[in-house]
Amino acid sequence: MRRKIIAGNWKLNKTISESIRLVNTLKVKIVNVSHTDMIVCPTFISLSAVAEALKGSNIQLGAQNLFWEENGAFTGEISGPMLKSAGCSHVIIGHSERRQYFGETDETVNKRLKAAISAKLSPIVCVGETLHQREENQTFDVIKAQIGGALQGFDTSELRELIIAYEPVWAIGTGKNATPEQAQDVHSFIRSQLEVLFQADFAASVRIQYGGSVKPENADSLLSQPDIDGALVGGASLDADGFAAIIKSSENLI
Ligand code: 13P
Repeated sequence: MRRKIIAGNWKLNKTISESIRLVNTLKVKIVNVSHTDMIVCPTFISLSAVAEALKGSNIQLGAQNLFWEENGAFTGEISGPMLKSAGCSHVIIGHSERRQYFGETDETVNKRLKAAISAKLSPIVCVGETLHQREENQTFDVIKAQIGGALQGFDTSELRELIIAYEPVWAIGTGKNATPEQAQDVHSFIRSQLEVLFQADFAASVRIQYGGSVKPENADSLLSQPDIDGALVGGASLDADGFAAIIKSSENLI
């Protein structure tokens, strides 16, 4: 049985003091949660302060990106060991916004994944098709290439902490979520790809989150699908009540 995992991707939102306020409010609302893993991913600049605010709670901390070199002349970048030292346990890699606006490719996703693993950060690798690709019936081909590219050169012992997030680009920030059936179809396809690339027991163990307009109102129906093991939540994670409600949906499904 895979443990559900709900992560909040705050993207470019919240100052340091707003970040602290948000987790302080959230902490109180989720005290009784015990069957669901919970992660918040603030901006780099708020990580240390949020880590401090999260002490004693069971909410974990994630970053939204990392660079593949550990240190050196790479102005503006942040490395795995630095994230670890700020208190991170997780890191998002290859979010579609990074692919769309910052030139991320399957090859750079692969390099970042390697860096995350060597820093002992649990990676959340994002994949997802655009609306055009879905309309052209390319969804499975796109997902297959993204998974294959990201995971190329790894063996299962390195990928024990791997989490995959399926985020259809057309559902991100649009209010238009994939239907539970559309999401389940792709999640089950991702699992079949993991089986082809690795082994069945590994494929069965990897947690696959859905992301794209997850809200308290649709969380139940998405999270109750057999291959949906959690959610990567954007907008709704910026509000403590909304995020806690999504976490509680997951918790009630146990
Ligand atoms: P929204 O929940 O705002 O659609 O964002 C999803 C997302 O991109 C999470 O990483």
